[in-house]
Amino acid sequence: MQIVKTIEEVRAAVRAWRADGLSVGLVPTMGFLHEGHRSLIERSVADNDRTVVSVFVNPIQFGPSEDLEAYPRDIERDKTVVEGAGGDLIFNPEPSEMYPPHFTTFVDTTETTELLCGARRAGHFRGVCTVVSKLFNIVGPDRAYFGQKDAQQLATVRRFVRDLNFDVEIVACPIVREADGLAKSSRNTYLSTDERKAALILSESLRQGKAAIERGERSAQAVIDVIADSLNKEPLARVDYVEAVDLDNVQRVERIEENTLVAIAVYIGKTRLIDNFIWK
Ligand code: PAF
Repeated sequence: MQIVKTIEEVRAAVRAWRADGLSVGLVPTMGFLHEGHRSLIERSVADNDRTVVSVFVNPIQFGPSEDLEAYPRDIERDKTVVEGAGGDLIFNPEPSEMYPPHFTTFVDTTETTELLCGARRAGHFRGVCTVVSKLFNIVGPDRAYFGQKDAQQLATVRRFVRDLNFDVEIVACPIVREADGLAKSSRNTYLSTDERKAALILSESLRQGKAAIERGERSAQAVIDVIADSLNKEPLARVDYVEAVDLDNVQRVERIEENTLVAIAVYIGKTRLIDNFIWK
């Protein structure tokens, strides 16, 4: 397993693999890898001859009051995870490698980024789309792997790949959860013991929303109310949003139909966590 810091080194490695006729998968990450990332890497290793994992805390997707400085980093641990999952190369650039002076070109999207996190985190998806486009151009993968936990990110990446004709297959991987139901996230490390217990309300309230649909409820508002009521019972939780949207265009739906994404964002103390489910 190789770890490289420059674009030229990644390109040289990929060129050599391509010369041997090998296929390449890319798993874009911000590091501090957990079981969720591991599942993406393992999927890529199963699908491709070689797997590149990018580890880059992308400054341009953080707002001025967000946790860029505090975001957890541990490249030694990341190396162990990538190696254990069978990855071949980590690309771990400095911000100056990705954003040289006078960097002024961005990939921006509309529609899929209007609601949910896009409405609350100004510039976030512009930062994500820009860095992911750069990674696609740097690595040139056959396939790239994204977690369903960041469902709006996934829909947005799919959209710009289609709109801008990137020649890469986007592969969605299921949410990985702790044994008690909490969705794995690097930000879970911010939670105190009490907050960690309180955070279970995210998966629990989604379970209640899903149960309502299973009982035959099809009104999006009624399902949103079930989830919001459940979240509001937890004193340490502050709801940022509960929404039901179309999985592809991330626009609100009135009825829960096939391909409806039910998504929530909740502050537990100062930590903002997201979770979701897709109805069928
Ligand atoms: O999901 C993430 O970790 C990031 O948004 C990504 C896709 C690696 C871009 O920085």
